[in-house]
This record gives sequence, structure tokens and C-alpha cells, in this order.
Amino acid sequence: MKVAIIGTGYVGLTTAVVLAYLNHDVTAVDKDKSKLDLLHEGQSPIHEPGLQSLLEEVQHTMRFTPNVAEAVPDAELILIAVGTPPKKNGEADTRHVEQAAKEVAEVCLPEKHYTLVVKSTVPIGTNQKVAEVVENVFSARGIQGNVSVASNPEFLQEGLALQGAFYPDRIVVGAHSEEAIDTLRRLYQPILEQTFDSPSTLPRPAAYHLPPMMTTDPNSAEMIKYAANTFLALKISFINEIAGLCEEVGADVTEVARGIGLDSRIGNRFLQAGLGWGGSCYPKDTAALLGVAAQSGYEMPITEAARTINFRQRERIIEKLRGVLKTLKGKTIGILGLAFKPNTDDIREAPSLDIIRELVAEGATVRAHDPIAIENARRALNGKALSANSELHFTEDIDKLAYDADALVLVTEWDLYHKLELRRLAKQMKTPILIDGRNVYSPQEAKAAGFHYIGIGRI
Ligand SMILES: NC(=O)c1ccc[n+]([C@@H]2O[C@H](COP(=O)([O-])OP(=O)(O)OC[C@H]3O[C@@H](n4cnc5c(N)ncnc54)[C@H](O)[C@@H]3O)[C@@H](O)[C@H]2O)c1
Repeated sequence: MKVAIIGTGYVGLTTAVVLAYLNHDVTAVDKDKSKLDLLHEGQSPIHEPGLQSLLEEVQHTMRFTPNVAEAVPDAELILIAVGTPPKKNGEADTRHVEQAAKEVAEVCLPEKHYTLVVKSTVPIGTNQKVAEVVENVFSARGIQGNVSVASNPEFLQEGLALQGAFYPDRIVVGAHSEEAIDTLRRLYQPILEQTFDSPSTLPRPAAYHLPPMMTTDPNSAEMIKYAANTFLALKISFINEIAGLCEEVGADVTEVARGIGLDSRIGNRFLQAGLGWGGSCYPKDTAALLGVAAQSGYEMPITEAARTINFRQRERIIEKLRGVLKTLKGKTIGILGLAFKPNTDDIREAPSLDIIRELVAEGATVRAHDPIAIENARRALNGKALSANSELHFTEDIDKLAYDADALVLVTEWDLYHKLELRRLAKQMKTPILIDGRNVYSPQEAKAAGFHYIGIGRI
């Protein structure tokens, strides 16, 4: 099938490469010249496990262009995967989606049928708005257009994006048009029936079952995406709330999570207490859902509480540091991990950023390490404090991070940080304090290595 994809970010690029691998004829469009330059050289602009090698495998069968006119007219299906960043009031900004829809409609051929699919995460009612944008362009052009708009929310998890694209739990389609549903079913047929040969680096999981394609109305599809992310966010916030109480009463949240996770109604996933969620989805999508609710005058106290608890986790880390160091002024703190989660270079809304800003504001010297997200973090923190005598230093060397430091804070649970030589690090530090923001180490193991260990919700 001829497919045009608008936007080559985390979602657009992953989708483009996977669809090309499944033998669809893909043209991907982006406005960002620097991304296109890299893509034309066969380089992925983002870090996502397996993406670079898959891109190399399919790049000769697909095209990247800044120009919708080179992608859309011939296509049967057009996917919009542009960003929907938060506005100041938290609502999702759908400007890029509407702009993309407008640009698409401007180059659609009269009479030819297209399925225009919104993959971006959008407030309820956006599909309707997109259909109106398209109709307005057609009437301004004085042509009879034939576009069916459909919602196909994306459930990708960064760090596991390809896994999720080839072996999804489900595919959700919201559309009124049978033709659009049929086109999407044909697009996803190799995935729905698992008829493709798995890439060598991404074998089909042993217990994987064929995924259902759920069809529904567009509003419900849009709501499914927000409800799914909000539920996952609040599951994490719930265990973090329990973790705080565990600290007060002397219980161990990892034991509590194990005990409740064995209940099949609850399940053990998303019950790891820690520094909470960040990234480009949960913070933005929970805020956007509250924005949708506010417009209807409807209160959502559970969603609000999930956010409050989540961001409180960041403050609690600072409080733990203050508690053990008395003052942060003049202290040297090593930050292990900048990305909002392992296996990605994405630092959007990462807990590390808030923690670093607060430490620097309180007069601490911060050294920060990450296996791949240093450049993105440097940009997010305004390239600040890079000189030798400034208060924020990035380093690729964990020994330099620890040397003479007053405390280490483990912020992102990269694999690498599961295998630290704790005894050696503790010896190099001024005061061997480890604040384990992801409960990676057992208190006994860290203490035996010479650390004063403080986890989340543990005794
Ligand atoms: N990142 C995730 O984990 C994830 C998961 C599920 C859903 N989503 C949703 O998917 C959408 C995209 O997210 P992302 O993380 O891929 O965003 P991103 O910011 O990484 O990428 C968006 C891309 O769209 C391009 N773009 C914007 N307007 C354009 C236009 N008119 N024409 C061509 N290109 C244009 C930008 O240059 C950028 O490269 C968002 O709505 C997001 O909420 C993201």
C-alpha cells in the first residue's frame, strides 16, 4: 500500500520503518531539515533500540521529503504523527495536527479516495476538527474531495518502540467509514496475522497471541489513548503513594508491590516505586485529559492526584538529600541518569531535569552522567554551566562522577547502573551516600559495599 507519514519523530519514524519493513511503499514527510539530513544519510535522529539497523535495512525502499506534494497525492493512506505539545494551561496543542491536515488537503487529488489517519495523541473531538479542516480546504480549492478521517492512537513505549509496533497488544481504530476501517485492516494485516518474518534482532515473543484490531467511533478511540496512559500513570503514582507511607511506618514497598502484584486482578507491572514518570506522554496526556474535563466542567480528582503524587516524588528526593546532608549548598551531587527512562535519549519532562535545577538553585555542584542523553539534557538545561568552575558538569565517566562527591542519586534505571562497582565507588566519595531513586539495589547490598543507602519506600 502507498503510505504517506507526516512527522518523523519517535512515533512517525518508528511507524515508517516498520511499515516499510512490511513491504508497504512509504514516504515520510518532516519539516525539520536537520532530521531529514540525517535520514537521507541513513542515520536515525533518535535513539531507539534496533531502529538504526532496521532503518538501514529498509532505507532504499522508502523516501524522506520535506514536501507533502511528493508524498500525499499518490498515497492511499496518510498517517499524521506530528507532535501535540502541552499549551501553558496543560491542554494539548493540536495546531501541528491541523496544519498537517491542511497541507495534506491542499495536495489531495480531486475525487481520489484517501484515508487520513490521526496517530498523534489528540483531545476528544479532534478527528471531527480534522475532517472540517480538510473540507474547508476542499471548498476553498473548489474541488470535490474524498477523504475518510480515522483515529488510530499509538501505544508505543519509548525504548521498546519496535517491539510494540511489530507485536502490539491491540490496534485501536476509530472511524465512521467502513472504507477507512478496511484500509487500516489491510495496512496492519501482516501484524494482525503475524505473517511477516521477524527481524533477526526482534524475534516474536514465545507467548505472543495475535492482536485484536478493535474498531470504535473516533471520540472513543481518542479517549482510549488518554484513558490508557492515565491508568498506567496512576498505577505508578499509587505505588509511590504507598511507598511514602511505607517509609513512615517501616514497611518495604518492594515487598508490598510483590504481594499485591501476585493478585491477577492487579498484576505486577507498573508497580515499581521510584521517582515516578516523565517523558513526552504521561505528564502531557494526564494534563491534556484534565484540560478536556475542565472544558466540560467535570472534575477528575484521581487524575489530579496522580499528577500531584508524581511530581512530589521529585521533591522528596531533594528532601532526602537535605535530610542526610543537612544543607545542599557547597555539596557535590552525582546524578546517575538523565533520560526519562532507560533505552531512550528522550529527556522531555525527565525527573532528572527538575532535580538538577533544584540542586543547582540550592547551591550544590552537580555532576551528571547518562549513557546517551547528555546532549539532549545539555540543550534542555540551556547549555548551562559547562565550564570547569560552573555548578553543573556532564561526564561520561562514572568514576569522575563519584570522586570526592557527597552523594549519588540514581535517577534512571539504565542496565549499566544495575552493575555498578559499589564498593569501589563508595571508596572514592567524600561521603558514600546513595539515594536510589529507582530501588535498583537492595539496601543490604549497598550497605555491605559501604554506602549509606536510601531507597524509595524501603526500610
Ligand atoms: N513519543 C512517544 O512515546 C509517543 C507514544 C504514543 C503517542 N505519542 C504521540 O504521538 C505524537 C508524536 O509524538 P512524537 O514523540 O513522535 O513527537 P516528536 O516531537 O518526536 O515528532 C514530531 C515530528 O513532527 C514534525 N512535524 C510537525 N509538524 C509537521 C508538519 N506540518 N509537517 C511535517 N512534519 C511536521 C516535527 O518536525 C517532528 O519531527 C504526539 O501526539 C504524541 O503524544 C508519542
